[in-house]
Amino acid sequence: MIKRVRKAIFPVAGLGTRLLPATKSIPKEMITVVDRPLIQYAVDEAREAGVEQLIFVTGRGKAALVDYFDVAFELEATMSSKGKNLDVLAPSRASFGEIVTVRQQQPLGLGHAVWCAREIVGDEPFAVLLPDELMLGKPNCLKQMVEAYDRVGGNVVAALEVPESETHQYGVIDPGASDGRLTEIRGMVEKPAPGTAPSNIMLPGRYILQPEVMRELDRQETGAGGEIQLTDAMARLIGRQPFNAFLFDGRRHDCGSAAGFVIANLAMALEREDIAPSVRDYLQSSLSRSDGEGDRFA
Ligand code: UTP
Repeated sequence: MIKRVRKAIFPVAGLGTRLLPATKSIPKEMITVVDRPLIQYAVDEAREAGVEQLIFVTGRGKAALVDYFDVAFELEATMSSKGKNLDVLAPSRASFGEIVTVRQQQPLGLGHAVWCAREIVGDEPFAVLLPDELMLGKPNCLKQMVEAYDRVGGNVVAALEVPESETHQYGVIDPGASDGRLTEIRGMVEKPAPGTAPSNIMLPGRYILQPEVMRELDRQETGAGGEIQLTDAMARLIGRQPFNAFLFDGRRHDCGSAAGFVIANLAMALEREDIAPSVRDYLQSSLSRSDGEGDRFA
């Protein structure tokens, strides 16, 4: 019997050094794409995919993430007294018990962050969503994956093709046979040295995993970059459990870097009816300037 995916882990304890100085005192996941923090997009994705319990793996300086999903009593009372509509706050209100937090005292790697949630996950399949990867699709990425998982079970991880020149930045799979959007995974490697990747299919940060991966993470072995890698723990399970890559139908924005964040903001702004016209006008006039340098005083 295939057990439902009811729980999702959001590893949010990373230092976000690529976005310094912004991330010196603000969690990366609280930086906004248009008018919502990144974490909101990931939480919406999980909720739409049927997830009931959101497990935040936090660290020092990440309290704003948890506060964000609280009831802001003073704000709501003040807005109400002024006749302002509170609907805008609805997605940021967690229901009682929906969010559980656990602390990763040191950022020892993504695998370690996931392992910190082992007692909360227990003996159930669970999803992992990296909030700095903004995944846009209809239905959303995790929902597409859950639909595939409900048919085949086992472990299902999102996958995307990237140019070969970029594979050294990611977890990359060794693909086997394909069936529609699912591809059997024969092996995985985290950040392969340039020119050694087994394919150009990378793992962009959405996973549905069986709880046995926690037993692999118990070993606390370090891998690429001296970090405890989730990819390495998953790789050790291949052959003992089914592993499929799910070729996600949609777009991905890597908001872990400044350029990715800017592009995500532009892409999302151009999809918003209320602000798209002014953003489009600005972009068009800026790009058409003959000096090609844009508006220095914007
Ligand atoms: P990244 O590889 O983007 O690392 O982590 P980072 O620390 O956030 O950012 P940079 O590279 O220093 O700029 C991917 C995801 O895993 C989480 C991060 O919060 C992010 O959501 N993570 C990473 C942890 O929770 N703990 C860790 O030890 C490492």
